[in-house]
Amino acid sequence: MSDIDSIKNSIIEQINSADNAKTLDDVRVAALGKKGQITELLKTLGSMPLEERIAFGKQINVVKAELEAKIAEKKQALEIQLLNEKLKKEVVDVTLPCRPEIQGRLHPVSKVYEEIVAIFAQMGFEVAEGPDIEDQFHNFNALNMPPNHPARQMQDTFYINNDVNNAFDMDSAYVVRTHTSGVQIRTMEKKQPPIRIIAPGRTYRSDYDATHTPMFHQVEGLVIDKKTTMADLKGCLYDFMKAFFEVDELPIRFRPSYFPFTEPSAEVDIGCLKTKTDLIIGAGTDWLEVLGCGMVHPNVLRAGGIDPDEYQGFAFGAGIDRLAMLKYGIPDLRTFFESDVRWIKNYGFTPLDFSAMTSGLSNNGGLAR
Ligand code: DAH
Repeated sequence: MSDIDSIKNSIIEQINSADNAKTLDDVRVAALGKKGQITELLKTLGSMPLEERIAFGKQINVVKAELEAKIAEKKQALEIQLLNEKLKKEVVDVTLPCRPEIQGRLHPVSKVYEEIVAIFAQMGFEVAEGPDIEDQFHNFNALNMPPNHPARQMQDTFYINNDVNNAFDMDSAYVVRTHTSGVQIRTMEKKQPPIRIIAPGRTYRSDYDATHTPMFHQVEGLVIDKKTTMADLKGCLYDFMKAFFEVDELPIRFRPSYFPFTEPSAEVDIGCLKTKTDLIIGAGTDWLEVLGCGMVHPNVLRAGGIDPDEYQGFAFGAGIDRLAMLKYGIPDLRTFFESDVRWIKNYGFTPLDFSAMTSGLSNNGGLAR
């Protein structure tokens, strides 16, 4: 065996037996570093006669390349080995039960949000989204509420004006959306009918008492097709209400009302029994208002780029927090957003209670937690 072969074999042996990155790197430096064995051999080339130099040079370079490849291969193997050891050490038994003392809870708003999505998903609705900071076209104008329309006063709007030189120019200001209805327009801008969406999300108004907070949640619904009627609206909302409140028999009343973006418009009440201490949904002779709805106004369709002579549809809007208060018997809305851990322990839901129509929406008939 030539000298160079025995050097190569001894280095390969050292590479093979290196059991960590540091030892392997020491082997690399000792072989290929500035003063390494192979480098030293290369330095002897200069004093050789030309022919010998060419042959020997070739031989060393082949060996060098071979050793480099072996080192790279070993390096990768060591890395994989290290990772496997780490993964083995950090293994988590996902089948262990949760430790109740550290288990988080799902906020009633999140729970109701999931329930609403589950019900409408089964009816074939998609979830649509829009921005919290909205321009006045989408929040007002396109919804048949031009500037100075009296209906704008119905909503205590927060305006956002970026232009310090024009701080009181309300016409050009953005708003934090006062309702989710703007998502109707954004959806129409993006797609042609048939449209069947719900748009749950945050909304904002300057208001604060037991049933109002400056930030709250709404869900908007929009269905547009060639022959969508008020009967479809009633059927859809009736099914939703029954599924949501988890009662088989639920009295529902459509009361004529006014919204600029719908014509005709209605407010929906559900039958209930109100006593001094309790609210029982689906029983008794009292009524509770739960949402607003109507047939989409032709001006709104037009603003969204849809021809009202060809298409028609219905829309509705409900307060998610209000639905949560009613379903789960929570009396004060302000407590929803106070981040009190005792409150969430009492009113929250276990995160593993998955909301699906097939497994029972709230898993508890809407009563106990
Ligand atoms: N945007 C209304 C509000 O915030 C709720 C509403 C009423 C939405 C009727 C609708 C509707 O889509 O048809 O009070």
